[in-house]
Amino acid sequence: MTAKTILITGGAGFIGSALIRYLIAETACHVINIDKLTYAGNLESLTTVANSERYHFEREDIGDAAAMTRLIDEYQPDAIMHLAAESHVDRSITGPAAFIETNVKGTFTLLEAARQYWEALDKERQAAFRFHHISTDEVYGDLEPGRLFTEDTAYAPSSPYSASKAASDHLVRAWHRTYGFPVLITNCSNNYGPNHFPEKLIPLMILNALAGKALPIYGDGQQIRDWLYVEDHVRALYCVLTTGQIGETYNIGGHNEKTNLDVVTTLCEILEQLAPNKPAGVTNYSDLITYVADRPGHDLRYAIDASKIQRELGWQPQETFNSGLLKTVKWFINNSTWVENVSSGAYQQWIDQHYEAPAR
Ligand code: NAD
Ligand code: TYD
Repeated sequence: MTAKTILITGGAGFIGSALIRYLIAETACHVINIDKLTYAGNLESLTTVANSERYHFEREDIGDAAAMTRLIDEYQPDAIMHLAAESHVDRSITGPAAFIETNVKGTFTLLEAARQYWEALDKERQAAFRFHHISTDEVYGDLEPGRLFTEDTAYAPSSPYSASKAASDHLVRAWHRTYGFPVLITNCSNNYGPNHFPEKLIPLMILNALAGKALPIYGDGQQIRDWLYVEDHVRALYCVLTTGQIGETYNIGGHNEKTNLDVVTTLCEILEQLAPNKPAGVTNYSDLITYVADRPGHDLRYAIDASKIQRELGWQPQETFNSGLLKTVKWFINNSTWVENVSSGAYQQWIDQHYEAPAR
């Protein structure tokens, strides 16, 4: 399947912006980015593609049915890659409503607009169309030692975030089974890399350490996540979009199981080398590690079996954890304007100053 025009939701976020940069640089696709620009949406992550004739941005909410129908009709996409979501577990604990609104109801609204468009396409375009739903390994819940998540693992989400993503996966699967709508689903492990919003573990720890602030470890820090460099994830997404089988799920992961404490300790070691001039009063970055109260409902372990996508589609990660982490720390050190604008909140004013909604 060759997609000429791809409509992406959530393209101003961490993974969506990496996907758009990849598609513009490595393919001939036209990309339509639909993003509401919540606190997590940052157009400064897309400055390298903003002037491309193959890139178009639309500030809309996926929960707005009329807007979704209008934009899909206007741009006539060959594929939709759906990444827009509320994505942070801690926020889902303190304010779950937005997660249900966007991840569940928003996905439903987008699915319906896309299905109606697809049903009206001619037979050839209908056969080529794909709706790719981007999801998380957190839908599978807490994993015992010695096991891996496969595509057949039963869903057992623990947090409001993962429950909302599980609900959206179920909707997408039902639209395939009931309406024959041509879907693909991917469930990926924890991503890290450039342009990551500093509320998530890795960017938060890098920026706190560089500022001489505490590095808060939830509980005992022995919880395990399976880390994947974001550019490996977007290569996998394009591979699934173009070669995956309709109706199938593909797990994506990097075979990098690490405890949170290991991750933070490794980050401190990298920072000792790359940023040896520490803030006043800091002798070793690792002295900043501070144990804090655990997250309620905290899953102890995630780990992905990514053998299906490797065996059937030939994808495998290119980065090791150490090479990806080194690139990530260097990116945060070398991109001080992006970091400062996110830290100060100026990135949201930048959006207001630079973005004008197109007249219709
Ligand atoms: P993110 O929070 O960085 O970005 C989400 C984007 O969606 C933002 O640009 C935001 O403005 C936009 N958005 C939110 N609500 C919207 C709405 N109602 N309408 C339109 N746009 C809206 O998230 P991310 O880390 O880039 O994750 C992208 C997707 O990948 C999500 O669906 C997430 O569940 C999934 N995922 C993330 C990870 C990870 O480690 N970050 C791992 C696996 C899967
Ligand atoms: P996070 O980046 O929020 O991703 P997720 O919860 O989706 O896996 O957190 C990764 C792990 O790091 C998770 O086990 C919670 C832990 N964590 C901390 O220990 N301290 C922190 O300040 C944060 C943000 C996360």
